[in-house]
Amino acid sequence: MASIRLENVTVRFDHQDVLKDIGLAIDDGELCALVGPSGCGKTLVLRVIAGLTHPVEGNVYLDGQLVNDVPPGERDIAMVFQRFALYPYMTTRENWAFPLIAARLPHEEIEARVNAMSEFLMMEPLMDRYPKQLSGGQQQRVAVGRALVRRAKVFLMDEPLGSQDAKMRVEMRAKLKKLQMDLGITTVYVTHDQVEAQAIGDKVAVMEAGTIHQAGSPEEIYDKPATLFVAGFVGTPRMNFLDGTLHREGGQLYIDHPLFRLAVPPATAQSIEATASSQEVIMGFRPEHIKLSVTAEADSIPTEVYVLEPQSNKLVVSLKLDEDILKMQADRNRLTFEPQVGQKVFLTFEQEFAHVFDQNTGQRIS
Ligand SMILES: Nc1ncnc2c1ncn2[C@@H]1O[C@H](COP(=O)(O)OP(=O)(O)O)[C@@H](O)[C@H]1O
Ligand SMILES: [Mg+2]
Repeated sequence: MASIRLENVTVRFDHQDVLKDIGLAIDDGELCALVGPSGCGKTLVLRVIAGLTHPVEGNVYLDGQLVNDVPPGERDIAMVFQRFALYPYMTTRENWAFPLIAARLPHEEIEARVNAMSEFLMMEPLMDRYPKQLSGGQQQRVAVGRALVRRAKVFLMDEPLGSQDAKMRVEMRAKLKKLQMDLGITTVYVTHDQVEAQAIGDKVAVMEAGTIHQAGSPEEIYDKPATLFVAGFVGTPRMNFLDGTLHREGGQLYIDHPLFRLAVPPATAQSIEATASSQEVIMGFRPEHIKLSVTAEADSIPTEVYVLEPQSNKLVVSLKLDEDILKMQADRNRLTFEPQVGQKVFLTFEQEFAHVFDQNTGQRIS
């Protein structure tokens, strides 16, 4: 087992930095979900850890040891590739047994591991089929199994459930999380799905355009997003953003919006004024931090119901506020009235949950 640490890692192709000064620390036994839009560099981060891509700058440590010059085969890492390649002339069983035979494990041990894996990945009826006799999702499970049977020091999984249907994906991610906990093998799990990342990761690292914006627990990422990008990327429906201007009046700091003003608590005001690069900020409110009422209340803002989207026990309400469309979300059984499209209603921002970002840098300043 091993910890993983990347330090100032830069990867360059054709004079372009595709990973920019990446730093990431993953503890021994931790499951880190690496999430970000397609093309942001997730696969490259895995390749750097595996030793398949060499950074032009920076260091990679496994278990505290610098491994920049250690070849991939000597890093004891098992990787599930995004574009997985199975041995076409081997059945599922043979695909899984092959690396174990190569590692000279005893026959009984190989059989026990392969059988356990076939149950775990729900592949029992498909053990004697060749890859071409399997669906895309089943082939992917063979690829996952081939990495997992090895029990390396580190697992790297590149979108390992990408080819599964929605139901299988949700079922498999819980099973993978349980297996990872039981085995305690340090794992980096790549996905472009923020819901999956939040669900599976002990730690979530959010990437964009070759940089890591933030790495932290799922709760930290959600409750205190470090940048505008993270705030908008994590959470469904997305956080609502509104432009605002810092404005001090006597002892009180306000954030002014044409339709309302937010009184900033003194403790937060200090940090905002110390870090803001100008008066221009962006306020963020999660959909669950907007309240609706039929009648005007203190600090409420008149608005109109634009669209209703029921989601199981929740209702997502789109609201028209001048040019902006805001989304609020509430448990259906906690709404005091049944909103109708076109209805005039009043919204209130729960100010204590406001997120404030610098408009120029996109950094959190609250
Ligand atoms: N071998 C390569 N040569 C040139 N550019 C590459 C190479 N591998 C990856 N890239 C570029 O690096 C960026 C990150 O790629 P990748 O890590 O595969 O993204 P992700 O896995 O997040 O979708 C992309 O813009 C991609 O085109
Ligand atoms: Mg990729």
